[in-house]
Amino acid sequence: MTGRPSPSDYETDPARFRANVAAVERYSLVGDVHADVAERLRREGPGPVLDLGCGEGRLVEPLHDRGMAVIALDRALGMLAAVPAPRVQADAGCVPFPDGCFGGVAALYMLYHLPDPGRAIAESWRVLRPGGLFAACAPSRYNDPELAEVIPPSPGTFDAENGPDLVRRRFTAVEVERWDAPLTHLPDRDALTLYLRGRGCSAVEIDRAAASVRLPLTLTKRGALIYGRKGC
Ligand SMILES: C[S@@+](CC[C@H](N)C(=O)[O-])C[C@H]1O[C@@H](n2cnc3c(N)ncnc32)[C@H](O)[C@@H]1O
Repeated sequence: MTGRPSPSDYETDPARFRANVAAVERYSLVGDVHADVAERLRREGPGPVLDLGCGEGRLVEPLHDRGMAVIALDRALGMLAAVPAPRVQADAGCVPFPDGCFGGVAALYMLYHLPDPGRAIAESWRVLRPGGLFAACAPSRYNDPELAEVIPPSPGTFDAENGPDLVRRRFTAVEVERWDAPLTHLPDRDALTLYLRGRGCSAVEIDRAAASVRLPLTLTKRGALIYGRKGC
């Protein structure tokens, strides 16, 4: 296993996660992956979808908009409270469903929290039907190079560098969609503050960054969306 799991603060500091989502909504030039993943699951993973580490339902909503049945799973009760039923509190490494009951499983921006993401990937494989579609995504360890002095690059347990191989250990026909482009624009100090709060920086770190970072700032976003298929 490379890297350390990213700390999970969703019960203790949900405002940090909400700042992260708000920063993407306000300052990303292209939005996020959820609508694209929902569309692909609709086309290629029919049948109920399991959303592992669903957070506050950013994938659940576009799946519902497409008429898909979804079960939302998260370890944090505070996150699940925002998500429409059916929902279940559980650990992604021990999924409380029988073999082969889902057409799609998504694990978006969550596998890097796990010390052993391979367990959750194996569980995803187990609960998928033959032919079912798995989707995962994560930033690169070299994301936001313009902020490297504020948030130093560090390998995670699942990132754009090691994630594809971890998925290939279980799934076939693995496809990787990478991004590496100037995709987020922070116009001013308020934007930088929201962005760094969402990334888990303290008030002191944000003040220090604001003194050294030149604004406006365009960030190079790097990451990967990974699809895998359960063989028939
Ligand atoms: C960055 S959020 C992503 C939420 C959602 N997938 C999205 O794309 O907005 C990570 C989520 O994973 C959940 N999580 C972390 N570790 C988990 C585990 N071991 N089992 C299930 N959920 C977990 C957290 O509670 C949090 O809601």
